[in-house]
Amino acid sequence: MSTAGRKRHSLEKSAAPEAESAMLKATGIAAAEYARRRRRLMDGLAEGAVALISGASVRLRNGDTAYPFRQDSNFLYLTGFDEPQGLLVLVPGRVQGESILFCRERDPRGELYDGERLGPERAAAALGLDHAFPVDDLDDILPGLLEGRRRIYFPLGGDAEFDRRVLGWVHSLRSRVGSDALPQCEFADIGHILHDLRLVKSAAELRLMRQAASISADAHRRAMQACCPGMNERDLEAELLYAFRRGGARESAYECIVAAGVHACTLHYVCNDGEVPEDALVLIDAGCELQGYASDITRTFPASGRFTAVQRELYELVLAAQHAAIDAARPGAHFNAPHEAAQRVFTEALISYGLLEGGLEELLATEAARRFCMHKTSHWLGLDVHDVGDYRVGDAWRVLEPGMVLTVEPGLYFPPHLEGVPERFRGIGIRIEDDVVITRGEPEVLTGGVPKSPDAIEALMAESLP
Ligand code: GLY
Ligand code: MN
Ligand code: MN
Repeated sequence: MSTAGRKRHSLEKSAAPEAESAMLKATGIAAAEYARRRRRLMDGLAEGAVALISGASVRLRNGDTAYPFRQDSNFLYLTGFDEPQGLLVLVPGRVQGESILFCRERDPRGELYDGERLGPERAAAALGLDHAFPVDDLDDILPGLLEGRRRIYFPLGGDAEFDRRVLGWVHSLRSRVGSDALPQCEFADIGHILHDLRLVKSAAELRLMRQAASISADAHRRAMQACCPGMNERDLEAELLYAFRRGGARESAYECIVAAGVHACTLHYVCNDGEVPEDALVLIDAGCELQGYASDITRTFPASGRFTAVQRELYELVLAAQHAAIDAARPGAHFNAPHEAAQRVFTEALISYGLLEGGLEELLATEAARRFCMHKTSHWLGLDVHDVGDYRVGDAWRVLEPGMVLTVEPGLYFPPHLEGVPERFRGIGIRIEDDVVITRGEPEVLTGGVPKSPDAIEALMAESLP
């Protein structure tokens, strides 16, 4: 028997104003915006589609202790719902309701330990969805929602367990209804369509990203001002984390990198337990996450508060590369334009140092500077720190559009073991990273609240902590 039209524990949009206002406060994004996102996603799906987007689950760390819960970014983008064990089902054109959430039921015992749950009784109204059902009823209800659908979209291959569950629901439907329950049904990856939506940020998302960037900028200023030779890298990390939390962000968007001296030549150095040498540069790559949105800043500064001549020389070079790259981040330019602009600045300088030999255009074509600038200059930024969205469309780089957000983070590194490096450059690693919004006009730098010219850094470091 078909279960497609069956309603169990279905809770229509009855009034639950207290739950609704709580959700709006939690995300800073209106329920109507989430509804618009779901509509746009459904409009982009093939005829007769159903889409399944699973929330994250709590992961045990050991014993009875869990890792901090982080909602799945796709699910958060489409619902604003930050509880574990959710599943969003979108069934475009379904007359009884197109958007359906499965979520945990209220439970006094569970809530005693982990806090209040929204529960299916309130979820539909609070989140602007058509129905909400208990997640424990998923295996009973979901197969019916798939019936007659010609394409099942989900993050195909994203999570082996979820892939298995989808197959299990298809199997269950076929065994209940017969093989014509899903005539010519196909599986399709939802990633591409959904990630294209996430790539261009709304005004509300940009507001949150400005806020996240501002908290992170304050944290970097604090670390610069707290820094003195002889302290441990972890002391600086503590300043960053303190400032994130005091600023209103519960989490870092990624593990902080606090790399003094030669540690800066390890691109993702996260041990953060070395002593800060007197004459070292300190590279800090750290950003908070606010309401799910990431910020990502790198600054490099002298532990002593004063750049040496050689540190300043190389720092100015990276800064020039970064300025050129930011200037290239304009609508109509392609994604790789900032990287190419930075590479040109680096390559010219490396030729002048005698570290690269050959013609400029030829060295650019072979990306010869990557010997000293090992990583790309940009990545998308959003709910994920390395955010979703294709970098290429077919064979061509993606064209930048207003509302896209990317990092601009050129770096120059002279690891001690690298051959042919002059003694005075050995062990120096410098990266400067800002978060940039593509606008119709000038690129908007979200992270300008932390200085980056050598003079401004020295001036800030000369002030004591407020
Ligand atoms: N913080 C990691 C990155 O900059 O890509
Ligand atoms: Mn970074
Ligand atoms: Mn980055």
